Amino acid sequence: MADRYLHLSGTAPGRFLTRRLGLPQPAPLRRWSLETPHLDGPLLHLAAGTPAVTGVAEVLSRVGLPVVGRADRPAAIVLDATGVATAAGLGDVHAALHPVVRSLAPGGRIVALGTVPPPGDHHQAAAQQALEGFVRSLGKEIGRGSTVQLVRIPGGGTAHDAESTLRFLLSPRSAYVSGQVIELTAATHGPAPGPASSPDPVADWSAPLIGRTALVTGAARGIGAAVASVLARDGAQVIALDVPQAHGELERTADRLGATALPLDITAPDAADRISSAAPDGLGILVHNAGITRDRRLANMPAERWTSVIEVNLDSVLRTTDELLKAGAIPRGGRIVATASIAGISGNAGQTNYAAGKAGIIGLVRSLGPRAAVDHGVTVNAVAPGFIETKMTAAVPFFIRAAGRRMNSLSQGGLPVDVAEAVAWFAQPASSAVNGQVLRVCGQSLLGA
Ligand SMILES: NC(=O)c1ccc[n+]([C@@H]2O[C@H](COP(=O)([O-])OP(=O)(O)OC[C@H]3O[C@@H](n4cnc5c(N)ncnc54)[C@H](O)[C@@H]3O)[C@@H](O)[C@H]2O)c1
Repeated sequence: MADRYLHLSGTAPGRFLTRRLGLPQPAPLRRWSLETPHLDGPLLHLAAGTPAVTGVAEVLSRVGLPVVGRADRPAAIVLDATGVATAAGLGDVHAALHPVVRSLAPGGRIVALGTVPPPGDHHQAAAQQALEGFVRSLGKEIGRGSTVQLVRIPGGGTAHDAESTLRFLLSPRSAYVSGQVIELTAATHGPAPGPASSPDPVADWSAPLIGRTALVTGAARGIGAAVASVLARDGAQVIALDVPQAHGELERTADRLGATALPLDITAPDAADRISSAAPDGLGILVHNAGITRDRRLANMPAERWTSVIEVNLDSVLRTTDELLKAGAIPRGGRIVATASIAGISGNAGQTNYAAGKAGIIGLVRSLGPRAAVDHGVTVNAVAPGFIETKMTAAVPFFIRAAGRRMNSLSQGGLPVDVAEAVAWFAQPASSAVNGQVLRVCGQSLLGA
């Protein structure tokens, strides 16, 4: 559904009016396109203190932006704060960013690099945790469509494991992601599945999913269709799954993408078997996206509404994941991405069932991620969308919808492609150090943590 306010505030009279009335000023966000794959301007590389990880400059030199030490109008600023180990050292963060923050181009990116301190040093732990409060606050005040994130690299490690993450955050692909903290792990996993002839995944950043089969549930429309589309764009062979009732829409989506349609209710007892049969050579990427809402306040909620939401949004995810992993249908290097929601973090009146299911997804990811890496060489992550413009949110009552769109640092709703880009980043073979993470794609919604 069109956001008329976003359109109006983008016109000269609208801008004048909204400024005078002190109303939100959403800036149009630039998404990735083949013509404009990169941000427009240089990348300013700064450090606070003496960096504690190696390889940052080398990785930044490959992200597609000219790296500079000084710039009038940087499109991105990367602040290496991995060496900040004391409260006094936080002064270096202020000293580095205070003089340049105003010069960041509209729609720019600030990425702070932090580290995961060893246990036992509470001064370093405090200083590194301080970066989180700093980043989340800067995200709330920076405005003009710019975003701010923190990436934690394991202590003593190198930035090479962070390359896919930095490429994502420093590109138009992360337009609707802000105020996020991503903690990388040191875990190494087996090689990603794919034919031996597939190109070196790190060398081919334009088609990183070539040779991988991806299954996306709930792919007929909305976010799922966008995920299927972005994974196909990145080279994956996609299997698009949706309920048999959505057959027509599913076929159209699959045809458009050169994907295979799999009409199947994900709650069916034989769902995992049917998925395995559809991907006889193994599933490199499994995206649990299907979801439903059956909103009612708890006092008015019949058991059927509770059960159906938990069944689709959580139970079927747990069951199919377990069965597919157990059957070896997701080979080493595989990627599982589930779909949570900010409702699962903040809670939402009328959504006890939905929020419980989505919070359960977060529990699943945090518990299974580390174990699946060790036992299967597979990563498990989740996206937690905020207000995304789809049929699901078009059904939300007008005033709640209007508030949902505006109540975030970017003052607008996201698009399905914003969630899809995050899923595609998790899905990359080069994202093997990204595990057990829940990335909010919510424009830094004011709801939740
Ligand atoms: N739209 C948002 O703002 C938003 C916010 C947070 C989380 N999410 C989550 O993102 C996911 C996609 O949301 P959307 O807005 O695109 O929803 P949508 O209703 O537009 O699409 C959901 C798709 O899932 C399919 N589906 C439902 N039950 C299924 C089942 N049992 N088996 C197979 N397919 C099934 C539907 O047929 C539909 O095609 C959901 O998990 C949703 O909870 C959405």
